[in-house]
Amino acid sequence: MIQVNHLTKVYKGKMFETKALDDVSFSLQEGSFVAVMGDSGSGKTTLLNILGGMDSATQGEVLFFGTDTQKLSPGQLDKFRKENISFVFQHFALIDEYTVYENLEAPLLARNVKKKVRKKEISEVLKSLGLEDFTYQLPDQLSGGQRQRVALARSILCKAPIILADEPTGALDEGNTSRVMELFQALHKEGKTIILITHDEKVAAYAERMLLLRDGRLIKQSGGQE
Ligand SMILES: Nc1ncnc2c1ncn2[C@@H]1O[C@H](COP(=O)(O)OP(=O)(O)OP(=O)(O)O)[C@@H](O)[C@H]1O
Ligand SMILES: [Mg+2]
Repeated sequence: MIQVNHLTKVYKGKMFETKALDDVSFSLQEGSFVAVMGDSGSGKTTLLNILGGMDSATQGEVLFFGTDTQKLSPGQLDKFRKENISFVFQHFALIDEYTVYENLEAPLLARNVKKKVRKKEISEVLKSLGLEDFTYQLPDQLSGGQRQRVALARSILCKAPIILADEPTGALDEGNTSRVMELFQALHKEGKTIILITHDEKVAAYAERMLLLRDGRLIKQSGGQE
């Protein structure tokens, strides 16, 4: 379903270049649950950003069902992203002026979900993440871990078939990490394709497949059929 061929990304600075990804190739089936691991600076976020169409590759292709997203026009790419991908950012990206409720309502409004249903879906997802007491708080009144869970809740409400998550448990304690990972596992059972970056072996153990990056190269793959 997702085919990555010889993906290379070079960031060009004024003084020097950084090869963030170096000839990375792999393929994933629909419904895969994959953990991407590797040291800081190994290219994990870069890979996820390119997969999600947030950044472009220097070389190589990313095919979703045979379509090269690098070749889509900005409008087509935007449409593709809206329909297929939900992103959990490393740095949350919540809207500061919006309450938790309003932050979560945004993706539902984008799907034209009715008010009553919006209310129900938001309260359900907040409950499942232990956040029901924070519904009407602003993001800066929350701890890092609480913000991270709100960001995850928002991406779940997007209902996209592909979830890309950049260290979704990075700011969480053990209890909340298991809570979040159980949620990912439930989404996986529903048939979502999940690609998740983590430094934590315990988190990676929830996934059925692991990709290990080092200095921009894919040095190890385990699990899965391909
Ligand atoms: N916008 C950018 N401009 C220049 N260099 C960048 C940019 N973004 C990332 N890099 C460089 O590319 C390399 C890979 O960065 P990336 O953010 O993908 O790493 P990462 O594996 O996600 O690390 P971390 O675990 O710390 O989040 C690093 O050397 C980084 O300095
Ligand atoms: Mg990163």
